[in-house]
Amino acid sequence: LETQVGIIGAGPSGLTLALMLEKQGIKSIIIENRSRDYVENRVRAGLLEHNTVEVFDSLGVAERLHKEGLVHHGCYINFNGVSQHIDFEKHTKRQVTIYAQQEVVKDLIQSCEERGIPVLFEADATEIAEVETDKPIIHFTHNGEKKTISCDFVGGCDGFHGIARKTLPKDSYKEYKIEYPFSWLGILAHAAPTYDELIYAYHNEGFALASLRSPVVSRLYLQVDNNDSIENWSDEKIWDQLEKRLGIALNRGEIFEKSITPMRSFMIDNMQFGRLFLAGDSAHIVPPTGAKGLNQAIADINNLAKGLIAFYQSGNEEDLTNYTQKCLARVWRSQDFSNFMTYLCHKQSEEGTFESKLQKSKFDYLRMSEAYQKTIAENYVGLPFEAFV
Ligand code: FAD
Ligand code: DHB
Repeated sequence: LETQVGIIGAGPSGLTLALMLEKQGIKSIIIENRSRDYVENRVRAGLLEHNTVEVFDSLGVAERLHKEGLVHHGCYINFNGVSQHIDFEKHTKRQVTIYAQQEVVKDLIQSCEERGIPVLFEADATEIAEVETDKPIIHFTHNGEKKTISCDFVGGCDGFHGIARKTLPKDSYKEYKIEYPFSWLGILAHAAPTYDELIYAYHNEGFALASLRSPVVSRLYLQVDNNDSIENWSDEKIWDQLEKRLGIALNRGEIFEKSITPMRSFMIDNMQFGRLFLAGDSAHIVPPTGAKGLNQAIADINNLAKGLIAFYQSGNEEDLTNYTQKCLARVWRSQDFSNFMTYLCHKQSEEGTFESKLQKSKFDYLRMSEAYQKTIAENYVGLPFEAFV
């Protein structure tokens, strides 16, 4: 096969890149190693920044998002039952939208289909070759056959476990990582939320987060140990712990999805090599507290699409040359905010330690300082793309 931009991965990054390019008449092919059904039903993130929604608006893929998504103007941060509201509207004049990642993925795939962008499912990329030439080649297997895509550029949008990052020469980047000593147990339940905005709660027994997917579906998370297993958590125990840590009564509907996710911060400080460009989870992972993962992926794509469009329209390679540098400024901000929110809200040590005193002091300061609230609000809703020039 032959195209202009070969894209590996039909997650939010790869699909958004293809649509941004198509809008300017640039051709691409996406290959995805999972089935369409699998990627359209993979439960992950659910909170979209203002910037992300604007990108989807500009692509004309946000009709259902605006109909079904829930706009939130603030959230709560609790500390052992004491609650502080963070008012996004007052501090930033921006909002966030609750709309599940798998719904985003469905909308993006449908739009690719309508616009004639080929998305090959169950097509496993095995090697990215010739990236230092102007005709890189993606090797992949599809329906048991070995195939190739010859292209001008490769979009490495294949997530944390993909092959794009492994294709970068080892000496071209430095790796940074933190593995946190706790995980999140996440549930989805057919239950009307009893709260109207998200609640991030520190509690002596661990963190809890109350989110939602719709007026009849709750999305909730609990901090658990890394070696904990889902069998240890009956539905009743989950609801009991959620109510205790959040300090509110919940509607205990049927739990229809339950999983444990480890938490890590990971990144590399180089996102390109020759004509291969990495975006989203292939280059960085943040802990979920603060919901930056998906939004950072779309911010990367915004930079990458701009660079590729400038190249095809005027031969100008400056934005592509500076791609990593442009992305990293925002990636580090996402890393810092996610790490800050994680340490603010999770139980890390017994009460009475130096760390726990600092944690409580941060929360007390948050209660008294509008400036601190604004800092959290502007990071949470997402700094404008233009802030990182
Ligand atoms: P992905 O969505 O991972 O897409 C990469 C795609 O590439 C996948 O579809 C994969 O199947 C495909 N692929 C991989 N290798 C190959 C190959 N060799 N050939 C072809 N295709 C390949 N973020 C939040 O903000 N809040 C959350 O609550 C949250 N929860 C999460 C829970 C889990 C379990 C995980 C894993 C992530 C979560 N995230 C969350 C992060 C967020 O979902 C990601 O940041 C987001 O999916 C990044 O999009 P992406 O397109 O870069 O990567
Ligand atoms: C959700 C996940 C997050 O990590 C977060 O900070 C807020 C909301 C969610 O899945 O709804």
